[in-house]
This record gives sequence, C-alpha cells and structure tokens, in this order.
Amino acid sequence: MARTPAPAYACTSCGARHTKWAGRCDACGAWNSVVEEAPLSVGPRAAGPRGRTIALTDLGADDPPPPRAASGLGELDRVLGGGLVPGSAILVGGDPGIGKSTLLLQAAAAFAGRGLSCVYVSGEEAAAQVRMRAQRLGLGQAPVRLGAVTALRDILTTLDAERPDLAILDSIQTLWLDTVEAAPGSVAQVRAAAHEVVSFAKRRGTAVILVGHVTKEGQIAGPRVVEHMVDTVLYFEGERGHQFRILRAVKNRFGPADEIGVFEMTGAGLAEVGNPSALFLAGRDAPAPGSAVFAGIEGTRPVLTEIQALVAPSTLGTPRRTVVGLDAGRVSTILAVLEARCGIPFAGLDVFLNVAGGLRVTEPAADLAIAAALLSAREDVAIPPEMVLFGEISLSGALRPVAQTENRLKEAAKLGFTRASLPQGSKTGGAEGMDLDTPADLAAVAGLMFGAG
Ligand code: TYD
Ligand code: MG
Repeated sequence: MARTPAPAYACTSCGARHTKWAGRCDACGAWNSVVEEAPLSVGPRAAGPRGRTIALTDLGADDPPPPRAASGLGELDRVLGGGLVPGSAILVGGDPGIGKSTLLLQAAAAFAGRGLSCVYVSGEEAAAQVRMRAQRLGLGQAPVRLGAVTALRDILTTLDAERPDLAILDSIQTLWLDTVEAAPGSVAQVRAAAHEVVSFAKRRGTAVILVGHVTKEGQIAGPRVVEHMVDTVLYFEGERGHQFRILRAVKNRFGPADEIGVFEMTGAGLAEVGNPSALFLAGRDAPAPGSAVFAGIEGTRPVLTEIQALVAPSTLGTPRRTVVGLDAGRVSTILAVLEARCGIPFAGLDVFLNVAGGLRVTEPAADLAIAAALLSAREDVAIPPEMVLFGEISLSGALRPVAQTENRLKEAAKLGFTRASLPQGSKTGGAEGMDLDTPADLAAVAGLMFGAG
C-alpha cells in the first residue's frame, strides 16, 4: 500500500535534520528555526503519478571529451582543468574583500573577449558600482552583460531568455527564492538557490559561477551540501597584508583537484603570476637560522616556498605552538619525533612556524623542511642557502621518498639551488649538477646539518 512519507524537519540555521518539530534546534541552539521541509526526491512509492523509466547506457559509450573554453588567463584556466566546461557549475569561495568579484569580473571580460557571451549578476553591488570597477580595471569596453538583482526567479527567467555561455552570480548568499520562507543567506535559501542554479546550468548548458562567502571557520557559509552539488569548488585565498592571492581547486569533476593559480593584487586588478617560486622566495635575505626552502608540488606544478621557524624560551607553563600556513597536527608530530627519536626536546620552548608569502602547504613532503627549520632555529645555525629540502618523516624517524622528486629538483635547479636534502631511495633522474644529501633518518639530518648526531 502506498504510504505518504513521514514529514521531515530541518533547521534553517544549521541544516540539521530532525524527525519532529521542535522550538529549538538541539544541534545549533537556534530558536524557531526548525521547519518542515518538502521532500526533495520523489520515488516510485510516493503518491502521485509514477516516474518514467530512463534509458541506461554502457560505460564504454563513446563521448567526445568535454569541449572547453579557455579564458586566456592561464592561471585561471589551469585551475579549471584547462578551461570552462559548458553546463558546469563552479563555486568560488573566499573571505570578504579578498578579490572574488574582481577576479570574476576580469574572468568574465576575458571569456567575453574569446567570444563567449557572459552575464554578470551582482546581488551585492549596484550596477553603477560594478561598471566603475570595470572601468578602473580597463574593462569598460568588454562585451559583458550586467545585472544587479537578487530574486532568483527573475535571474533564471532572464538567463533563459539571454542564453549566455557563462553566467556569474555574485553571491549565492544574496540570492533568494520566493518559494522558500527564510531570509537570504540562510541555509535553507542557499541550499535551494544552489539547487535551482545547478539544475539550470545542466538543463541549458550554461556554465555558472557562483560566488560564496566563507565563514570564520574557513568554510563556505551555508551547508556543505552546496559543495556537493556543484562540479567544481575553488577557494580564493590570501593573507590580508600580502598582495598574493591563490585560487585553489579543492574539488573538480573536470580536472585535477589541488591545482593552484597564483595572482597578485595590483592597483589595476589581479595580475597573473607565472613563476610563483620566484615570488614566494623573493623576500629571502641573508641566510638566517630557522629558514628552510621546501621544494613542494601544488597540483601539477612544483612550487618552492620558504618555511620559517622561531624557537624561544617560554615563560608559559604550556609553551606556545603557533603555526601559520601548515597543519598544526603535523607540526606536533614532527616535534614529537624530534624529541623521541633524535633526543632533541622542545619542552619549555615556544615554537612559531610560518610559510613565507601566505601559501598554505598541506603536503606531508614538507615534513623534512619543517624539521630542518625547527632544528636550525633551535640550534641557531643557518641552513646553507643553496639547499632545498623535502621528504616525509615517519613516526619511527625514518624518511620516506615522496612523489615527483624529479620535478621538485628541476624547479630547484631552475631557481639556482645547487644542493638538495631528500630521503634515501628517491628517484633522482634529472638532477645532474645538484649535490644530493640522502640521509636515512631524521637523526642523520640533525647530524648532517649540525655535526651533532
Ligand atoms: P573584491 O573583488 O570586491 O572582493 P570580494 O568580492 O572578494 O569581497 O575586492 C576588493 C578588494 O580588492 C578591495 O579591498 C580593494 C582591492 N582592489 C585592488 O587592490 N585593486 C583593484 O584594482 C581592485 C578592483 C580591488
Ligand atoms: Mg564581492
């Protein structure tokens, strides 16, 4: 017998599901936020007409690769996996003021310059404001169509009529759907709006870029489910005081994730940075204790960065561990390995670690450079300035080879480094002319650098 599904309830503030209505959400503590939600999917058991049978195909079916449109902004195209795929939905997240609107206006102009029809809808700024910015960026003549609306129904009707190749909606938090009884920016609105926009993109073959704000915790405000709905999630990040901006693919159904594009914020908008290693190492002066150059890989590209450590006697009962741009858990592990396997204690010492230039380094391959920076800071001995380091440290203190060793060494050689410290057993083809130190474990690294085993 057909059974009507039990009503489901969800909190409009945090998105938590409830089986019954409540005045207060026990997940986030918000009052009056739990509402009944309409079921999103209708299965064959639901009341009403049955769904139709869909045609299924084989995995082997021959499809041409998705046609891609390049913008000509190399850094953006690479992060997108080689260009824009028609009908794809892309979410660009980032802190307020980091430059999302600037980037996307420049992207719209670049795509329009390549013959794509582009619509830029701003829900945050008036059309005149966007025009003013475009003129300041020298893009006043770009054939980009502009709108300043927030009602999603009007936006989709307009896009349906205009049939653009690319639509940019800035931002998802300002859009509202009149069928959802919640304020713009609330979880319910953001989720419903994203759902509408993504289905529009698939239906019409229009590529859609959604801008999303980031919460204090660094996640795109609104439910995680928006990130699941879209094809590609890009984060635009950077330090406030720095000019560098990094566009990072954290999810991409049409290309590699973890790819980065590097930009510099200038008086005339965002400029592409073709050689990020040179930029990240630019501020390095005389060899100083606590500085180690890490040869890393970001996406498909080698990037050299400087890891800086400072170790100082602590006045606190629990010494400070301040880490910027690296994983704090990883750093704790390395400190523990140094202490347990090499007999080098950091108890009673404050430790500060930083990646110069505002890049975030997440690779385990950075372990060796982090350990070397820590040792160098603690012993007050500078690491030779012509040396790069990379390698993963295991809990036993052994060093493990990492992927793409050759690419790392090539990039280092290109930038004038002549020595590298890397794990034994690494594939070192293409490193002619480089002095290679291949210590077996962390204790050997300590011995090698400071002659102290
Ligand atoms: P914006 O794109 O408005 O940020 P978001 O959309 O992420 O909130 O960027 C605003 C900042 O960028 C603002 O602080 C000024 C700076 N900026 C420049 O430095 N140069 C420029 O040419 C432009 C347009 C902005
Ligand atoms: Mg903006």
